[in-house]
Amino acid sequence: MTDNSDLAALIRAIPDYPKPGIIFRDVSTLLLDGPGFRATIDRMAAMVPADTSLIAGIEARGFIVAAGLSYALGLGKLMLRKPGKLPGEKIGTDYELEYGTDRIEMHLGQVQPGQKILLVDDLIATGGTAMAGIDLIRRGGGVVDTALFIVDLPDLGGAVKLRSAGVESRSLIA
Ligand code: PRP
Ligand code: ADE
Repeated sequence: MTDNSDLAALIRAIPDYPKPGIIFRDVSTLLLDGPGFRATIDRMAAMVPADTSLIAGIEARGFIVAAGLSYALGLGKLMLRKPGKLPGEKIGTDYELEYGTDRIEMHLGQVQPGQKILLVDDLIATGGTAMAGIDLIRRGGGVVDTALFIVDLPDLGGAVKLRSAGVESRSLIA
């Protein structure tokens, strides 16, 4: 059993990015490390609920996590994209995150009614991004009760926000 401090050591903290007062947890250094990234995906894969049938990843960093888990588990993946990228019929939602506002969109018809979907991203801070993803999946007919992250910043309250929406947050590093 590991406390994942080996992986935490591969993530650097950059103060005052992208705004004064924000400590940016930069996973680019973890992604550069092959064994570190493999261990990240292997340990996250072990935390995926057994009844998961699709992995939903949020653009952009969430795609990297979703792709790794999708490959490791042999599950399909659903792209939740930033605006203007999806060619088909879609729904979208605007949201606030730690350092701004944004929008994500999801294709309609790519989620089966009642399908059990795991939401994944690299990091949860305020939970605004993850809540937007949950909203889209639920509006599309999917069921989401678990979300999985490399990093949780608990002081920003994201996991509590998800819990109040009936979603359990799991993460490797807090
Ligand atoms: C980051 C991160 C999460 C989100 C978390 O994404 O990858 O998606 O912020 O913040 P929140 O919990 O306060 O919502 P960002 O929007 O910076 O985009 P990127 O993945 O394109 O870098
Ligand atoms: N997304 C939201 N807050 C963040 C932070 N502090 N570091 C990296 N990504 C983030």
